Amino acid sequence: MNINECLSYDDVLLTPQYSNIKSRSEINIGAALDQNHNFAIPIISAPMDTVTEASMALKLGKMGALGILHRYNKIEQQLEMAREVRKNLPEDLPIAAAIGITGDYMERATELINGGVTILCLDVAHGHHVLMKNALSSIKDRFADKVHLMAGNIATKQGFKDLAAWGANSIRIGIGGGSICSTRIQTGHGVSTLQSVFECAKISKASGVKLIADGGIKNSGDMVKAIAAGADMIMVGSLLAGTTETPGEVIKNKDGHTYKVYRGMASKEAQMKWRGKTSSLEGISAFVPLRGSVSQVVNELSVGLRSGFSYSGARNIFELQSNAEFIRQTNASLSESSTHILKRQ
Ligand code: XMP
Repeated sequence: MNINECLSYDDVLLTPQYSNIKSRSEINIGAALDQNHNFAIPIISAPMDTVTEASMALKLGKMGALGILHRYNKIEQQLEMAREVRKNLPEDLPIAAAIGITGDYMERATELINGGVTILCLDVAHGHHVLMKNALSSIKDRFADKVHLMAGNIATKQGFKDLAAWGANSIRIGIGGGSICSTRIQTGHGVSTLQSVFECAKISKASGVKLIADGGIKNSGDMVKAIAAGADMIMVGSLLAGTTETPGEVIKNKDGHTYKVYRGMASKEAQMKWRGKTSSLEGISAFVPLRGSVSQVVNELSVGLRSGFSYSGARNIFELQSNAEFIRQTNASLSESSTHILKRQ
């Protein structure tokens, strides 16, 4: 049996390249999902019930990033969120919302599109699936090019090819790599997200179907690596968890520290909330410290992205992907790559 290796963000580094960029203001970190959907910042917030409702989508939209309204609610509740975003955002800014691929998905899609949603995210754990094929083709039949169709998640080249052939305009890559995911533990399945990006990037460029790296991004350095490997945009959950704009109560512990909940949508807690019972548990729930406004967090990530582009001598995503040279790092290199003065004897 031939067994391939899979590389994760911490297994690689980008080698610094000659740069003639004199100021980081010359760098454009913007990205596009299609001709009508351009973003100043290539960051998308995950459609999770502890990450993206109206307040997150609004704030990100105003900054030139994107938030995807989650689908773990009644259609009317999700529609209400979409309406709130549409009233408060300029007409030309996109609104994105998630749907499933079974049950009421077509009714949900119709209501959301009528409510002003311009990006529909067909959001399931295992997207390389016949039900995804059916859902993509019926939505495509019904709405043709009226809406951008984002679909996922998948982890392989074949998955990317199939979803592209079934009508997806952009594809979320990443199975089991998220900070709150336990899919790989529960099922033994998954591929490191960066490896999936490496493998799908060529097909994405050749087909024009955009690639979104999703899950396991710990910092702006990982974002730079994902984009350099071929991602157009980056989806994040934990990096935005605990910000003011996330849904959920603020919890104070006995020492006065404040937290919010961040949980996987396949965690016991999330499943009980949205369907009143549990099936395979493939996520966990965690308390994360409060960390201020999402604008501050996204601004910091953007500064890191710009700096990352400049180390590769790149003025934009296209140049980053052309210039990037990856090397593998050893464990000793990885430990040198993190701050380490406190580990010295
Ligand atoms: P990060 O690392 O940014 O990952 O926190 C967010 C992504 O994780 C995925 N997700 C899950 N994956 N079980 C999983 O295996 C879950 O319960 C779960 N909930 C979310 C999703 O792709 C998200 O964008």
